Amino acid sequence: MGFVRNCWYPAGFASRMGEGLHKRRMLGLDLVLWQQPDGRFAALADRCPHRFLPLSMGCLKNGNVQCGYHGLTFAADGSCVRIPGQASIPPSARVRAYPVEVNMGLVWVWMGEPELASRERLFDLPEYHEAGWHPVEGEALEVEANYLALADNLCDPAHVAFVHLSTLGNAAHEDVPIETEVKGDLIVTTRWTIDAEPIPLFQKFGRFAGNIDRWQIYNYHAPSIAVIDFGGADTGTGAREGRLHDGAIRIFACHFICPVDEGRSIDYWLHVDNFATDAVTKARMNEQFALAFDEDKAILEAIEVEEGKLAGRQRPLRLGIDKGAVMMRKTVERMIAAERALVAAE
Ligand code: FES
Ligand SMILES: [Fe+2]
Repeated sequence: MGFVRNCWYPAGFASRMGEGLHKRRMLGLDLVLWQQPDGRFAALADRCPHRFLPLSMGCLKNGNVQCGYHGLTFAADGSCVRIPGQASIPPSARVRAYPVEVNMGLVWVWMGEPELASRERLFDLPEYHEAGWHPVEGEALEVEANYLALADNLCDPAHVAFVHLSTLGNAAHEDVPIETEVKGDLIVTTRWTIDAEPIPLFQKFGRFAGNIDRWQIYNYHAPSIAVIDFGGADTGTGAREGRLHDGAIRIFACHFICPVDEGRSIDYWLHVDNFATDAVTKARMNEQFALAFDEDKAILEAIEVEEGKLAGRQRPLRLGIDKGAVMMRKTVERMIAAERALVAAE
């Protein structure tokens, strides 16, 4: 389907991008990123305009990137600041620079028109910054599948009862209905399972008297961000009305997807919860998530292979549980069409 370009996409966890040059492929384009001496990040197209060597094969010199072939040196804004052996710098000696911001521990790159980039359009989860909530960085999960296949999975609470039985799911919610709502570019898919046994993850980390009321609210911010608000509380204590008792669990599982190209994606995941105060609990939580997301990866990659064999000759069966994914794809399609119309008008 293509990509929405006027959008911030994640390029990595800021804490893991400190030293040297970092090569990234995003939306089918190659970029080189680095952290400048003042702490800010820079992103340039990863191709020297001289003889096209990837700049990521060069090195950093005083906060600028020096090409590894003949030493042309580029600043964060893409301008050439040095050509060894000649004093004059032609205007064509420049590289495309991409706006970069940091939020929620991630480095974000604006892949569209630079003048449309603004911090206000960065995604933010307020709880990430608030007292009483604990952000826990996860991993960069590479998946050999189109980003919309990951998106399908992240608009889909139904699969959890079958795929994630050791962590996030149990049979209790197999037949519980799902509701879908669209609010602009946000697709919300919700399932409440009332008076059921806690899922394995909650048995490990929660303090429950017996059965629980459990919610899964999948917030998909098109084109490529999912925040899954899920948790559980003792049954009948008013969780659905917004009351959470001590020991109730609430987690925001965040998936920030970078489409690498049409056939590959990276899911930068992290979570924010209301209980993991110590490093051991945080690590144990991440183990559980890593286990679950590897299960999704295996499924999505296998589906991608089957879709490749079918080459569009058969359409997937559409069921009631697919409404969120269908709405998500329509939304992304609409966003891409709007961008193309804008470009055509110009
Ligand atoms: S290819 Fe980069 S300086 Fe020659
Ligand atoms: Fe999953």
